[in-house]
Amino acid sequence: MLFPVLFCLWITPSSFGLEFRYHNSVQVGQYLTEVSKNYSDFTHLHSIGQSVEGRELWVLILGQNPRQHRTGIPEFKYVGNMHGNEVVGRVLLLQLIDYLTKGYLRDPLVTRLLNSSRVHILPSMNPDGFESSGRDCLYSQGRFNKNGVDLNRNFPDAFSSGNGQLREKEVVAVMEWLKKETFVLSANLHGGAVVASYPYDNSNRGSELQGSSSVSPDNDVFIHLAKTYSLSHSSMHKGDICYDSKDFTDGITNGYSWYPLEGGMQDYNYVWGQCLEITLELSCCKFPPESELPGLWEANRPALLAYMQQVHLGLKGQVLDSNGSPVQNASVEVQGRRNLCPFMTDRNGEYFRLLLPGNYTITVTHPGHEPLTETVSVPYGPDRFSALSHNFQLQKLSSHSTLRTTVQPTCVSSGLQYNHGATLLPSAFTALTALLLHRLLLS
Ligand SMILES: *[C@@H]1O[C@H](CO)[C@@H](O)[C@H](O)[C@H]1NC(C)=O
Ligand SMILES: *[C@@H]1O[C@H](CO)[C@@H](O)[C@H](O)[C@H]1NC(C)=O
Ligand SMILES: *[C@@H]1O[C@H](CO)[C@@H](O)[C@H](O)[C@H]1NC(C)=O
Ligand SMILES: *[C@@H]1O[C@H](CO)[C@@H](O)[C@H](O)[C@H]1NC(C)=O
Ligand SMILES: [Zn+2]
Repeated sequence: MLFPVLFCLWITPSSFGLEFRYHNSVQVGQYLTEVSKNYSDFTHLHSIGQSVEGRELWVLILGQNPRQHRTGIPEFKYVGNMHGNEVVGRVLLLQLIDYLTKGYLRDPLVTRLLNSSRVHILPSMNPDGFESSGRDCLYSQGRFNKNGVDLNRNFPDAFSSGNGQLREKEVVAVMEWLKKETFVLSANLHGGAVVASYPYDNSNRGSELQGSSSVSPDNDVFIHLAKTYSLSHSSMHKGDICYDSKDFTDGITNGYSWYPLEGGMQDYNYVWGQCLEITLELSCCKFPPESELPGLWEANRPALLAYMQQVHLGLKGQVLDSNGSPVQNASVEVQGRRNLCPFMTDRNGEYFRLLLPGNYTITVTHPGHEPLTETVSVPYGPDRFSALSHNFQLQKLSSHSTLRTTVQPTCVSSGLQYNHGATLLPSAFTALTALLLHRLLLS
């Protein structure tokens, strides 16, 4: 009979894409391995480390040259499932991989994205948590890693030295990853609310604290990035979709103003990784029924793609010496933006600065060389799938200026700059509230 045969063909995953369900860690590993074999021209699979229980932290890289960085090609990443019981991001990132692999060289947007940037996807940062998770909307079973640690509180914190020196394996893996790649833009996918949250998440009540927000030097860029996601999402921009949520204007919030947290991943990426990261809360229910997954994908797909395109904001290029050789560890500072750690050129002498359109004065500093200041007019890069390319050529300090030295900016140790003892001392009431929030509401 012809009919059942046709029926079988119709329901094969390859004609309809990846099934909308919760794949366990073994299935995710198998799926990613298949993808990397089927699409080996533009994907590359590797593991950045293991979880406490020994599961691989798989990262799929997609791009025209997936195996290595190319000069001028910005590195982008998405990280899902850091809280093991917040599972929508994990599902969406697998769907995104399916969409990107099927669309490359067919869909114009996908093709341009993958030809102009290198995209790293870590569908699950906490596979142990996922495997132990309760299928529950609110509670926290599975949130933590195998050692009971909240990974989004386990990173070094620029505003505090009090969050412990013991780093979990999953966190160490991400920190090492950030050293290997010069990431430019990132998002960390969570659940339990619907909002795009941006740095800072913490403060020590220094000058960054403005009203109830902890404001970074790149606040304008962060607001633009968060809005790019929320306005491209089918409902996030409405701002108050979950039954108990705050009224998030435009569907975005400063992290600290929502609730302060110490040791978070987005502040770490931004302050020390020179990578602008925001935190995306993608569903009121942390572990929704599988029947809701197709709708969640449709709601987020345009936003996930639009956000990736923002990797092309601003300015990029190399710092070269008088011989034209790339200079590593030159600082590239934008006037009016005193970053806690200066943005430095990487081992290729490259820098990337996400900036909104406008005129900027840039100062490049490197020991033994004359400081160089230039003004650059920056257009809107995402439309062109490229930030503005601008190289800086340094000159050696001239002989008559040998008494001068070039003072290079270094990280401002914000945690020591202000009075430590006075920071974040909770009253008994706020401690109790925090505990309840921790159990029930935190995303
Ligand atoms: C990989 O290719 C095989 C053989 O064509 C196919 O059966 C399978 O569905 C593909 N898997 C993925 C994830 O693309
Ligand atoms: C993207 O890169 C591929 C492989 O190098 C090339 O064949 C294709 O023409 C490029 N497409 C666009 C739109 O840049
Ligand atoms: C650049 O700085 C890093 C980190 O401080 C250091 O490990 C590296 O050796 C420096 N490279 C050069 C060429 O100075
Ligand atoms: C930037 O500078 C150019 C001249 O170099 C000027 O025409 C333009 O109006 C300036 N743009 C802004 C936003 O100030
Ligand atoms: Zn979370």
